[in-house]
Amino acid sequence: MMHILETERLILRPPELADAARIQALADDPDVAGMLTPMPFPYTLESAESWIRLGHAEIESGESYPFVIIRKADNLLIGAVEIGNEVRHHRGEMGYWLGKAYWGQGYVTEAARRVVQFGFEVVGLHRIFATHYAHNPASGRVMQKIGMKYEGTLRGHIVKWDKPVDLLMYAILRDEWHLSQSPSPAS
Ligand SMILES: CC(C)(COP(=O)(O)OP(=O)(O)OC[C@H]1O[C@@H](n2cnc3c(N)ncnc32)[C@H](O)[C@@H]1OP(=O)(O)O)[C@@H](O)C(=O)NCCC(=O)NCCS
Repeated sequence: MMHILETERLILRPPELADAARIQALADDPDVAGMLTPMPFPYTLESAESWIRLGHAEIESGESYPFVIIRKADNLLIGAVEIGNEVRHHRGEMGYWLGKAYWGQGYVTEAARRVVQFGFEVVGLHRIFATHYAHNPASGRVMQKIGMKYEGTLRGHIVKWDKPVDLLMYAILRDEWHLSQSPSPAS
């Protein structure tokens, strides 16, 4: 089932093949593709098309929910966010990226917060986790801002571009998220 999510400034919708050229233009950047384990570099039109096709199959099977991030003000595609669904463990991994021109304006925090809500309320997850490379603290900051907790560092867990990289693991559990949604007691 296809889902479209909305926030104050953004629409999150499933990617379409017509988005491929725009996705490639933004993702074919070492500062973007270099921060996500599954992203190839160079990031070609075919890379974008295969992510979109795989995404359609995964949405169909309920394994993952990829979204492109559209800025409402100008209808521009500025990045992507995805949440997986490992059904057996009711757990999902979230990942995200933005084109460089759009960094530092709170867009990913806004998108990721909405996707966490979707993961708990619609997908029915119990745990949502995300990892970031040790040399990418901005992504860790997003995880903190959306209420995820640091759980530890997986030392040299992956090799990206021939170099071992430390991964910092963050997660939020459904109960914690529910608590954070309830209104704070009146003072
Ligand atoms: C990391 C990324 C997703 C952040 O998206 P964004 O929309 O710019 O993030 P936001 O503006 O919502 O928040 C970024 C936070 O990181 C902080 N930050 C930025 N650079 C930082 C740095 N070098 N060290 C520490 N914090 C940093 C910002 O100050 C901000 O926190 P604040 O609101 O407390 O000031 C974006 O830069 C990106 O797409 N990078 C390339 C791909 C990527 O790294 N994806 C994540 C892989 S795990």
